[in-house]
Amino acid sequence: MDVFEIEGPVRLEGTITVSGSKNAALPIMAAAILAPGQSIIRQVPRLADIAVLRQLLASLGAKVERINGDVHIDTTVIDHPVGEYDIVRKMRAGICILGPLLARCGRAEVSMPGGCAIGDRPVDIHVRGLRELGAEIHLENGYIVATAPKGGLRGKQIFLGGPFGSTVLGTANVLSAAVLAQGRTVIESAACEPEIVDLAHFLNAMGARISGMGSPRLVIEGVSTLQPADYTVIGDRIEAGTFMVAASMTEGRVRLQNCQLDNMLAVVDYLEHIGARIEPTEDGCIVTREGDLIPADLTTQPYPGFPTDLQAQFMAMLALAEGNSVITEKIFPDRFMHVAELNRMAANIRKEGPSAIVAGVKELIAAPVMASDLRASAALVLAGCAARGKTLINRVYHIDRGYEHIEEKLNGVGAKIVREDV
Ligand code: EPU
Repeated sequence: MDVFEIEGPVRLEGTITVSGSKNAALPIMAAAILAPGQSIIRQVPRLADIAVLRQLLASLGAKVERINGDVHIDTTVIDHPVGEYDIVRKMRAGICILGPLLARCGRAEVSMPGGCAIGDRPVDIHVRGLRELGAEIHLENGYIVATAPKGGLRGKQIFLGGPFGSTVLGTANVLSAAVLAQGRTVIESAACEPEIVDLAHFLNAMGARISGMGSPRLVIEGVSTLQPADYTVIGDRIEAGTFMVAASMTEGRVRLQNCQLDNMLAVVDYLEHIGARIEPTEDGCIVTREGDLIPADLTTQPYPGFPTDLQAQFMAMLALAEGNSVITEKIFPDRFMHVAELNRMAANIRKEGPSAIVAGVKELIAAPVMASDLRASAALVLAGCAARGKTLINRVYHIDRGYEHIEEKLNGVGAKIVREDV
């Protein structure tokens, strides 16, 4: 099992190219199911989660091939519309094949995803939305079994909000099914995340008729068939945000390429408040910091609010701000596994319900720590780069689920990270 040995503190300086977005690529690859034939999805990051989805698509009957950064998905044959437990249990995002399979095949069985380190993560809203389109859905042997009515799914006005606001993959599932439904579907309280906008652009490139992208009201005029498309996914705003924090935490100067700042306004706003300077460039930005880190009161929210997927990384940075910060998690109230690990590195963070009170310390001190989930692990890598001494991070496979060669990218700008197989 791989571990990272990180020597710090370092000052990061140089250029990093941001990879394609994992969370855009996943539902887009799943949506390729909707149109028989070969779609080409470009700028797909090489990640463990993407490999799991490739395996899942292949298990349905599709032919999936990676050629450099592109994934070619031939869905001429989809003859086994079943998301098997053995594959779906590896990645919750496997649920995003449910809507496309149902719309294409009229029937889908997908293993019910379990909980994970960041919380319960139910799929009741996905199910509610697909039922509204006329599907009959029940649970059998741990599988969600969905059947479209005779004559296919039917468009409808659907409210898709839940106790924590909109749902990203729930919107992806219902949207992907609605494009082939008869008549008009209106999704109210749709997720506005850039990854959903990207999915909608891909669907429209296939011939779908979606409007309202980026707003909480998506209007879909159903079409009877779709054609395969050739599509390039957006840059990964969470990876970009992670490197922005890295630059800021180490008082560095990092230029990011392939970074769409328009998708990151809340992140940029908080970074500037905390003391970073973000200078836009043609294809990204330059991040610098001089002077002290300033504490912040930060709350995660659905887009365009501050993203939960950067909460842990910001916590690592605020651990070094002079004064008290409050971080409140409104999307996944249990997503605080990194608190105990950061405290092992001499941070002073106290969890209070869905919030964490971060009392700034002068320095972080290296320690052996455990990666618990993807973003928590990224926070530990950042903390390791800023901490004095040699940090050892176990269970690095969590990071490989969502960051493409993170150690190579950070080492390219001056980090000292060694991957070892122990
Ligand atoms: N929720 C429900 N019922 C549902 C669906 C969601 O109650 O049927 C709740 C969730 O429990 C949560 C909230 O609604 O409290 C929002 O969850 P959402 O459905 O939006 O999350 P997701 O679609 O499962 C995606 C990303 C996550 C990211 C969240 C929030 C992908 C593959 N995953 O998950 O990314 O944190 O949106 O932005 O797109 C990550 O990349 O590390 C990651 C966890």
